[in-house]
Amino acid sequence: MTSGASLPSCVPLNNGTQMPRIGLGTWRLDGRAGEKAVEQALDIGYRSIDTAAQYGNEEAVGRAARRSGVPREDLFVTTKLGNGEHRFADALRAFDASLQRLQMDYVDLYLIHWPLPAQGRTSEAWHALEDIHGTGRARAIGVSNFTIDLLDRLLTSAQIVPAINQVELHPGFQQGGMRSFAAARGIVVEAWRPLGERDRLFQTPAVQELARKHSRTPAQIVLRWHLQLGHLVIPKTVHPERMRSNLDVFDFRLDDNDLKILGAFESGRRLGEDPDVVNE
Ligand SMILES: NC(=O)c1ccc[n+]([C@@H]2O[C@H](COP(=O)([O-])OP(=O)(O)OC[C@H]3O[C@@H](n4cnc5c(N)ncnc54)[C@H](OP(=O)(O)O)[C@@H]3O)[C@@H](O)[C@H]2O)c1
Repeated sequence: MTSGASLPSCVPLNNGTQMPRIGLGTWRLDGRAGEKAVEQALDIGYRSIDTAAQYGNEEAVGRAARRSGVPREDLFVTTKLGNGEHRFADALRAFDASLQRLQMDYVDLYLIHWPLPAQGRTSEAWHALEDIHGTGRARAIGVSNFTIDLLDRLLTSAQIVPAINQVELHPGFQQGGMRSFAAARGIVVEAWRPLGERDRLFQTPAVQELARKHSRTPAQIVLRWHLQLGHLVIPKTVHPERMRSNLDVFDFRLDDNDLKILGAFESGRRLGEDPDVVNE
């Protein structure tokens, strides 16, 4: 670690392992540039990396992890089951292919990337993840983009409660109902697109004022809001200085009024796709 940043703190998952509260998102980080960004992040002090079969960068992430010299047991690697692989046998094969691309013996977390409710195979895919978990090659298993209804349905036939639900979550789309539902079942919520509509959000006088008050950047204010609400975050950036500042959010605290100010940005509007309609 070269930056002097301390390692991000962790939260316990329901499988007994610990997951860093901040990781590097890698959507759109691919090829040589993606590999370099992941390597820089690991050098700066990131220990959790979020990839997916669909990002086309598992090989790059695996190479960066090996080049970093960080021992495998100190890393937390998440990858995801691609859409179109929800049949039991396809999911098993897809998982093997992910490990092969990562050149790893196991991942720390394997997620169903999208529920694809219209295909009607979500439970089948989950049973495959349970099977994989049983082999020890996915230390924890979880889901992504699940609504309350979809989680509720999954839980009726699940043997294992998902460790994580990774969802779109930011001040403009706060998922209050889903967060309460998950908390009551020991499911940790992880925020994708954690910075939300950042160009607009960071310019608002309220966020600028909070940044001034705490002598932080708007991004740090938003990331701190997530941490205080108990979310894991995986901001993506290619810039080392942003990697550092996104990680440097453990030594200040928003007060109740600050949280209320950020809470008022709720719009109920997604920026990304609606999991109920994504079908391929
Ligand atoms: N499960 C899912 O379906 C799903 C969907 C989407 C995303 N994800 C995961 O979640 C991760 C994060 O989501 P995301 O990439 O959509 O959104 P994000 O992390 O909220 O935002 C990424 C954008 O913010 C910029 N950025 C990062 N740090 C910044 C800072 N400190 N100040 C200003 N701008 C900053 C980055 O630009 P620069 O690179 O130029 O810095 C990048 O364009 C993804 O990378 C992926 O791993 C999962």
